[in-house]
Amino acid sequence: MGEGKHHADYTSYSVNSGKEEILQSVFDSYEALSYDTRNWVANLANCSSLLWHAYHSMKVNVNWSGFYVLSKPKTDELILGPFQGKVACQTIKFGKGVCGNAASSAKTQLVANVNEYPGHIACDGETQSEIVVPIVNNGQVVGVLDIDCLTLEGFDEVDVKYLEQLAALISKTCDW
Ligand code: SME
Repeated sequence: MGEGKHHADYTSYSVNSGKEEILQSVFDSYEALSYDTRNWVANLANCSSLLWHAYHSMKVNVNWSGFYVLSKPKTDELILGPFQGKVACQTIKFGKGVCGNAASSAKTQLVANVNEYPGHIACDGETQSEIVVPIVNNGQVVGVLDIDCLTLEGFDEVDVKYLEQLAALISKTCDW
């Protein structure tokens, strides 16, 4: 960490920055913070905070940002990981809901309107849109990154691009 810089300073985003700049900054901050540890709890906890503050600085009404991880020794179930926001469901089977579909298909799910998504799991009835990005390590899904939004169409292809880059970095910076 740079001289005189506090950990919390990583979550100070300029309100004048553009979306791509802020999402790149999340990537860069995560990279800097994860330099110290390969522990996935610590890294995903700080990443949840980076994402929460980044989206709020962009005035995107994010109500949940965080992770579900593989519920070892099971190979077909996710369990709640570090997050920011309200209490959420603890376990999700592969193939169930947006997170479970991202896990079973290993493909990003960009959901403009969760009310139209068959099988969406409503941890919070106020959520309107969602993005879930799988974290793949050695060909296996080890978790998913999940962000929920209180407005419709909260996320787009720019989010997909940057969050997939972030998920790839998360995969290689943690011990699973
Ligand atoms: N909506 C998700 C469940 C997780 S919460 O959004 C935090 C889903 O359908 O998988």
